[in-house]
Amino acid sequence: MKVHETAFLTCAYRATEPALSHDIYAYLYGNELTDKWVKAVTEEVSSWEPFLHCLRNRYFLDTMTAFFEEHPGGVLVNWGAGFSMYPFLIGGHIRCLDIDQADIISHKSELLEQWMSEGKVPTRHMDYLVADFTRSQHADLISQVTRWIDGKPSFFVLEGVLYFLKPEVTDRLFETFKSIQTAGDLLGCVSFLPESLDTEVQIKLDTFFNRNNVVQGPFSHHPLSTESYETRSGYTLIDHQDYCSLSACYSPERAIADWRTILNENMYLLRRC
Ligand SMILES: C[S@@+](CC[C@H](N)C(=O)[O-])C[C@H]1O[C@@H](n2cnc3c(N)ncnc32)[C@H](O)[C@@H]1O
Repeated sequence: MKVHETAFLTCAYRATEPALSHDIYAYLYGNELTDKWVKAVTEEVSSWEPFLHCLRNRYFLDTMTAFFEEHPGGVLVNWGAGFSMYPFLIGGHIRCLDIDQADIISHKSELLEQWMSEGKVPTRHMDYLVADFTRSQHADLISQVTRWIDGKPSFFVLEGVLYFLKPEVTDRLFETFKSIQTAGDLLGCVSFLPESLDTEVQIKLDTFFNRNNVVQGPFSHHPLSTESYETRSGYTLIDHQDYCSLSACYSPERAIADWRTILNENMYLLRRC
């Protein structure tokens, strides 16, 4: 499995409970190889993963829906978009930009064109940008995205990406966001807390990723503390959730009490100030 293939995995998780995730199109990306990965992760690492990713999608979908109700002329930029389907789950009047690596963008854009022509998904005007966040210069990225946004209120989302990025790449990416967004814009992010790294389930995931060569060299999650979001220059932290709070909110009968028993990602919502 390669990093970009993890996008199939998160998509397959969202497809397991569309009533919860509200991603009613994720199933379209299903394939046999991904089914094998899902089976392997749920058996060898944690059986909670599909449920948790449904919660994550639902949280960001609800959050961006509220933002676009307030800003009907706003735009969505999904950084490391993978096979997320937010553009098809929110109003068709919202312009959307997916940013990811070349193989994801070419595969996704082809599939979406086909599905739109077959009527499997609603018609949407999608824009795409190929980028590698690890590049040392983001000047082109900044000018392309700024031009695309054209002064409109923006919602940025960055899900399932940060744990692959080294701290210096993360810092550069946040500076990039800061130079593009303007006061009142929102940024949704997902990351693990440093204290989660020594949990049994996290060690199992790292071992699994290493065994399956997800990245070159030994894999370890790059966590971020909540304090790093509270002190992030140019932004104010306005909401913080984890899978314990989201499960209690969206599926109280399955509320998770002990965060150490799951791969507990933390969701942050920041407002550009
Ligand atoms: C686990 S997937 C998550 C996809 C999607 N955000 C979701 O939640 O389903 C990680 C995504 O980040 C993208 N990604 C990872 N490293 C990246 C980089 N250096 N530059 C651009 N995209 C990257 C991958 O291609 C992949 O689509």
